[in-house]
Amino acid sequence: MTRPIQIQTRRYRSSEWFYGRDELGFQNRSALRSIGVDVDRYQGRPVIGIANSWSELNNCNITLRDVAEAVKRGVLAAGALPLEFPTISLGEEFTKPSAMLYRNLMAMDVEEMLRSNPIDAVVLLSNCDKTGPAQLMGAASANLPAIQVNAGPRAPFEWRGEQIGSGTDLWKYWDQFRTGQISEEQWRELEHCMSCSQGACNVMGTASTMSAMAEALGMMLPGTSTIDATDPDRLIAAEAAGRRIVALAETNLRPSDIMTPAAFDNAVRVLLAIGGSTNAILHLIAIAGRLGYTLPLARFDELGSTTPCLANLKPSGVHLVRQFHLSGGVPALMQTIEHHLDTTCLTITSQTVAANLANANVTDPDVIRPLTNPVLGAGALAVLTGNLAPLGAVIKVSAASPNLLVHEGPALVFSDYEDMLARIESPDLEVAADTVLVLQNCGPRGVPGMPEWGAIPIPAKLQRQGVTDMVRLSDARMSGTSYGTVVLHVCPEAAAGGLLALVQTGDRIKLDVPNRRLDLLVAPEVLATRQPKPRPRTHLRGYPRLYTDHVLQADEGCDFDFLRPRTEEELVFVPPIVGRS
Ligand code: FES
Repeated sequence: MTRPIQIQTRRYRSSEWFYGRDELGFQNRSALRSIGVDVDRYQGRPVIGIANSWSELNNCNITLRDVAEAVKRGVLAAGALPLEFPTISLGEEFTKPSAMLYRNLMAMDVEEMLRSNPIDAVVLLSNCDKTGPAQLMGAASANLPAIQVNAGPRAPFEWRGEQIGSGTDLWKYWDQFRTGQISEEQWRELEHCMSCSQGACNVMGTASTMSAMAEALGMMLPGTSTIDATDPDRLIAAEAAGRRIVALAETNLRPSDIMTPAAFDNAVRVLLAIGGSTNAILHLIAIAGRLGYTLPLARFDELGSTTPCLANLKPSGVHLVRQFHLSGGVPALMQTIEHHLDTTCLTITSQTVAANLANANVTDPDVIRPLTNPVLGAGALAVLTGNLAPLGAVIKVSAASPNLLVHEGPALVFSDYEDMLARIESPDLEVAADTVLVLQNCGPRGVPGMPEWGAIPIPAKLQRQGVTDMVRLSDARMSGTSYGTVVLHVCPEAAAGGLLALVQTGDRIKLDVPNRRLDLLVAPEVLATRQPKPRPRTHLRGYPRLYTDHVLQADEGCDFDFLRPRTEEELVFVPPIVGRS
């Protein structure tokens, strides 16, 4: 029996679509009915979008269909209408040259889907590295109430009795395979072990780091980012998020109410305390930029000087994310550094950080170390400046070799990634343990998309001599699962006129992490005689063209210039919802 439509007070945004008496209301109600929704039943209730980045092109997000169903159960239980929609999904494994090239595209997709559809609040389903930050960037710009739910890490796997961490141990065994220390047969065995479960990389790589950042920012239910992808608790947490988002829609608590400057400081503190991925620096800067905040690179260093690294997790330590979860996860870690946090920040629980942490507890002090026994006393991530990086460069100190943190050596320059691949394994390569490996033209504009090429392999001839780490430097990024003395994000990049483009093989380079310096020791008058080699523009049209024309440098998070609000008016701009489609 069809009930007459009651004109709603415009409590929810979606009412503009569904509850008019005019032909547009008719049309929209009819469209909803055509997908099997009894419109009348949800009158006066919010519509909850479920932005799902499930994709068979993204193995790390493959469990998100089940997660979406659990979220729907929660939304329905709270009496609201869930509407799921797909978004672009970015898998680190398949997307070339780099998922980072498409992070901004996914962020635009999320923002515009939220803006253009009858959605009052949204649950964002993420997992692999770029999906989390892209969703937070889009949700920050759309500024509708939002909760992020990740799919979680893979269950740990073993090879010949040893627990294997995704990525981190892959790099280790790849080096052993390259140098003949393990056989072809063992290498194939490892391939099977690496893919024996579903979910994200199970070390503190970029995916786990960004999910921890969502928790620390207050955008994810506390304690949920670290639940294994295949643990039933994952679905229970998703259902809880479904119930919670309805409450957020009712109170209209928005990302801009939660992701405040103080919340970003909290996230940076947690990033440092977990020894998280360098990629998180770019993503946090980009998310903050969407809300009109400048999060300078220097802030990471300022907060780093008093924040210990406490999470003993690969690649900075020895454990995996499962052990971190069982030891209390992000809430327990946050409680340990509570004196460094602004615990008055509001979160998607509608409670403060302090209230969320009230029952947190570290259960294994070897996994989440006490303040008296840190993995690293301070500065897990360091920001460097100097003539080679006047706008900054970063290094993950917690995963570097202490004996290389102050180092001077001759440069061996690779003009791009192809050049590096072509020469790095050559037995004739003139390289020694003190050489600084330099990779040019791999920054945001250079490739484009700033791929994770910064952890240049140690030349096999040196590996055979027992060299396991060298100073490496580039304008590229590095996988969050990688380790080594690797200077990244050199800014400005070579392709944007940075001094990096002028470095030549044999030049001396000095890295001084304690003093936060990175310098090319070549006289200015010599540099004045050098010109960067012109490089052909490789992307003449389409999205890569848009990207190279508008991408900001690493110190500004590699967002597009036109996606960041430049004025107060742009920050609060909401397009009117009128007219026909
Ligand atoms: Fe997807 Fe690591 S490759 S989370």
